[in-house]
Amino acid sequence: MRYAKITGTGGYLPPRIVSNDELAADMATRGIETSDAWITSRTGIRQRHIADPGVTTSTLATHAARAALDNAGMSATDIDLIIVATSTPDFIFPSTACLVQANLGVAGGAAFDVQAVCSGFVYGLATADAFIQAGRARHALVIGAEVFSGILDWNDRRTCVLFGDGAGAVVLSAADEPGILSAKLDADGSQMNILCAAGNVVRGQVTGDPFLRMDGQAVFKLAVQALTRSAHEVCDEAGVSIDQIDWMVPHQANIRILNFIGRRLHLPEEKLVVTLDKHANTSAASVPLALDVAHRDGRIKAGDLALLQGVGGGFTWGSILVRM
Ligand code: UT7
Repeated sequence: MRYAKITGTGGYLPPRIVSNDELAADMATRGIETSDAWITSRTGIRQRHIADPGVTTSTLATHAARAALDNAGMSATDIDLIIVATSTPDFIFPSTACLVQANLGVAGGAAFDVQAVCSGFVYGLATADAFIQAGRARHALVIGAEVFSGILDWNDRRTCVLFGDGAGAVVLSAADEPGILSAKLDADGSQMNILCAAGNVVRGQVTGDPFLRMDGQAVFKLAVQALTRSAHEVCDEAGVSIDQIDWMVPHQANIRILNFIGRRLHLPEEKLVVTLDKHANTSAASVPLALDVAHRDGRIKAGDLALLQGVGGGFTWGSILVRM
């Protein structure tokens, strides 16, 4: 039997940090009221990293990919599959994964993007796991990368304060023992309107509304329900109980969502990896960035059981149980 195991993690954040106070002061110049107190108490977010103009998703993704390769002790020539999860690709085409492949200076092996918004990394990791188990790849780079600042309406205080830019990556390699124990991906397209950027370019013109729009309360409720159920499903599939989980590495949207889910699963707070205070919500990058932070600071060790969870537009959600 062939399995897939995470052999390296990496992350990259653009250097410019924007604090809540700085953002509030900037928005005040446009007559929009917000405050550090509101953002912190409602979300747990204190700051976000914002890419400078001209810095693209493929640039952030390439930095994260190099860091993951370094961590795995591998070179880009070892990689035969690149999957980039993003909703903010550099171009309509080619895919961001192809741009990353070119930046890494290699050719050959499959490279493509997955689009599942904030669940994208979890969708990408499950896809790479299936490729490896089927014998179609040996070493995959799975990357979540976003320049979400480019699709935010900076005059909409209900959304623009919540997001940031960044990239996270893992190397997933064929192994004799299981690393990815189970995966459960779901979607409910009937909920497409609660979180969307419903614009496009047609005949050279932007059509529809290209900015991110969200019904925050509807997303909040669905996220808590879906991720609680999904955690049970993925654990049942792997034959492990929730209390055997060492680390919960969830999508980083709102500390109140994470605490709700943690309480429902009876998971102690210390098992929760939280980066949203520093990174805000980086969509597809949030799970691999959080994984990388906790892996590098020594919390997540070889042999630990980690539950990765994504949730977002589509509506999409998913869980992956990983033996590190
Ligand atoms: O990555 C995809 C997943 N996304 C999520 O998981 C997001 C899920 N949703 C949430 O995290 C929360 O619903 C939000 C953080 C988006 C909003 O928090 P909330 O507690 O649901 O607030 P609310 O939407 O009920 O708004 C409460 C009040 C409103 O004012 P009124 O109508 O009560 O007078 C809003 O207009 O807060 C106001 N408000 C703000 N005030 C200051 C909304 N945004 C802001 C703001 N600053 N930035």
